[in-house]
Amino acid sequence: MTDKTRKILVTSGLPYVNGSPHMGHLVEYLQSDIWVRFQKLRGNDCIYVCASDAHGTPIMLKARELGISPEELTTRVTKEFLEVFAAFGVEFDNYHTTHSAENEALTVEMFEALRANGDIVTKTIEQAFDEKEGMFLPDRFVRGTCPRCKSADQYGDSCEVCGATYTPTDLIDPVSVLSGTTPIKRESEHYFFKLSEYVDRLRDWMHEATLDKNILAKLEEWFEAGLKDWDISRDAPYFGFKIPGTEDKYFYVWLDAPIGYVSSFKHLCDRRDELNFDEYWRPGYDTEVYHFIGKDIMYFHTLFWPAVLQGAGFRTPTSVYAHGFLTVNGQKMSKSRGTFIMARTYLDNLNPSYLRYYYAAKLGPTIEDIDLNLGDFRARVNSDLVGKFVNIASRCAGFISKRFDGKLADALPEPALFAEVTNASETIAGHFERREYSKAMRLIMALADQANRYIDEQKPWVMIKDEIRLDEVQAVCTQGLNMFRSLMIYLAPVIPAVAEEARTFLAEDSWDWDSACKPLLGKTIKPFKPLLTRIEQKQVDDMVAQSSDTTKEPESVAEDNNISIDDFLKLDLRIARIEKAEPVEGADKLLALTLDVGDSTRNVFAGIKEAYEPDELVGKHVIVVANLAPRKMRFGVSEGMVLAAGPGGKDIFLLSPDDGAAAGMRVK
Ligand code: MSP
Ligand code: ZN
Repeated sequence: MTDKTRKILVTSGLPYVNGSPHMGHLVEYLQSDIWVRFQKLRGNDCIYVCASDAHGTPIMLKARELGISPEELTTRVTKEFLEVFAAFGVEFDNYHTTHSAENEALTVEMFEALRANGDIVTKTIEQAFDEKEGMFLPDRFVRGTCPRCKSADQYGDSCEVCGATYTPTDLIDPVSVLSGTTPIKRESEHYFFKLSEYVDRLRDWMHEATLDKNILAKLEEWFEAGLKDWDISRDAPYFGFKIPGTEDKYFYVWLDAPIGYVSSFKHLCDRRDELNFDEYWRPGYDTEVYHFIGKDIMYFHTLFWPAVLQGAGFRTPTSVYAHGFLTVNGQKMSKSRGTFIMARTYLDNLNPSYLRYYYAAKLGPTIEDIDLNLGDFRARVNSDLVGKFVNIASRCAGFISKRFDGKLADALPEPALFAEVTNASETIAGHFERREYSKAMRLIMALADQANRYIDEQKPWVMIKDEIRLDEVQAVCTQGLNMFRSLMIYLAPVIPAVAEEARTFLAEDSWDWDSACKPLLGKTIKPFKPLLTRIEQKQVDDMVAQSSDTTKEPESVAEDNNISIDDFLKLDLRIARIEKAEPVEGADKLLALTLDVGDSTRNVFAGIKEAYEPDELVGKHVIVVANLAPRKMRFGVSEGMVLAAGPGGKDIFLLSPDDGAAAGMRVK
């Protein structure tokens, strides 16, 4: 274990508020949340902040299109992101917005510091201007014919056909995407940050920051090409912060966006007395700062941002961790294929823990793209998480609770086997630390295989038949459960919701990383509830169907008689104890039952009179649908339905649960 508590600040890229959260975003937020949870579990002091990125032309236009203010749009979309983050267990210490007083103050402070250094210059430039809309057009809002290869309908910054890069004013026959009119060229004065002055300092930083080799290679490429001065201003109309001393000039969104990391942290400091802002953002402290981002925004984070920080008298990031882009079934996410999956749609169909595990199983520390293959997703989760991992607990827990009153043995029968799990602790921790999550998952699953093999060999279900071997059963199951428990602790950063339930089942108050190495012995644990169920193909199919563009039409009524898992989950199936059973006057098939369903008693009429004598039913446990709407019958109101099997008449068999059932228990 580490010798001292590290102070760490982690950020994730600030989501733009002109779109809803999707599966691609989640790669980033899950990758960073896992890392933060791992650091916290290790006992480090780790703070995780983020914010909504509210500024810029696309957001201004999106708000206009919706007929609301950009502030209102920010509020709406922020709420959506926060709901998704909560559902997926992404736990920020603070979530703010870049359109805040804190961010404006810090942006102005940094700008003024840079200006005082002589790092800011003004230049008059020529840009595409839409006369009809009365605004300058960002590159992406102009389309036209490529000046190099003459391909039609290309973006204003680069050609998708030949790869040429240029400015919108170079396009042949340019057209404004907003109005369809031909933009004119117009001059305007802009503010530039002299990035070229920072080449040496950036080179020093990039080596200290131990960046991934792919990022280093990119940086070398950019240095080779030469660093140009960076245009940090935009003309009105623009949604952003006004540049002090001007009437109609605003800071470009990419200047104040990363400052959002600092201002979100500042906003947190204002509420948490023990936090010292300077320790995290001024040079000279051994606090660590990491930015998790996608590879598309590396230029901003590895060139502009460290340079701005240095110039303004702030510290630079310890490192920048970039990940690749998400593909679904090997291709770019696509609306027509139903693979542009929104986070909401995923949540409507599947448990978030599955995705957390799957991404972890695929993620490494490089900018390589990661693929969500939906077939592999289902197979992998079912075989690893459910089939291997959770299965260890399900195979052992029943014996402990039923035969030993939940009490674990006082010693492990195979300490050497348990040591295989604990000896892997630092290797697994190293994998997490270096964001080698896929390696960590592979090692954990290999250890789960060992635990299952052990149980297969010992066969507690055979031993249990032999009274003199009872102690052995308890020992074997204690061994199995302890291996499960240690692996659960290693997996806690990845599937925290499952870990939480497992910890409750093991009747423990809290875990840290080292808890995995201390076995749980002689303690009484709680009854086991299945922690995760398998993914059904239908859940995945439904998610894809709901993600295709064509699902606007009402979903066709099921052609077969299948019900969806959602329909099934609506059933409140419960164990009931029959308190009273009486014949019903005038009905030759019915018995009137009084059922104890845990929190109340119910009167239910059941058509079982020919199969059962009323007296033999009293005290029996049965399964009942407890949330069936009450139904008025000729003889009174029936408040539920008792489940039975058989062709009818004398051959009706009440479904009576195993020993250990108690009235009120849920059946699912
Ligand atoms: N607002 C900027 C970031 C500013 S940071 C100071 C932005 N926003 S975003 O909403 O487009 O993306 C937020 C983060 O999610 C980025 O790091 C981005 O790389 C990541 N991803 C967005 N789509 C993604 C995929 N399809 N796949 C993987 N990551 C993706 O960029
Ligand atoms: Zn071209």
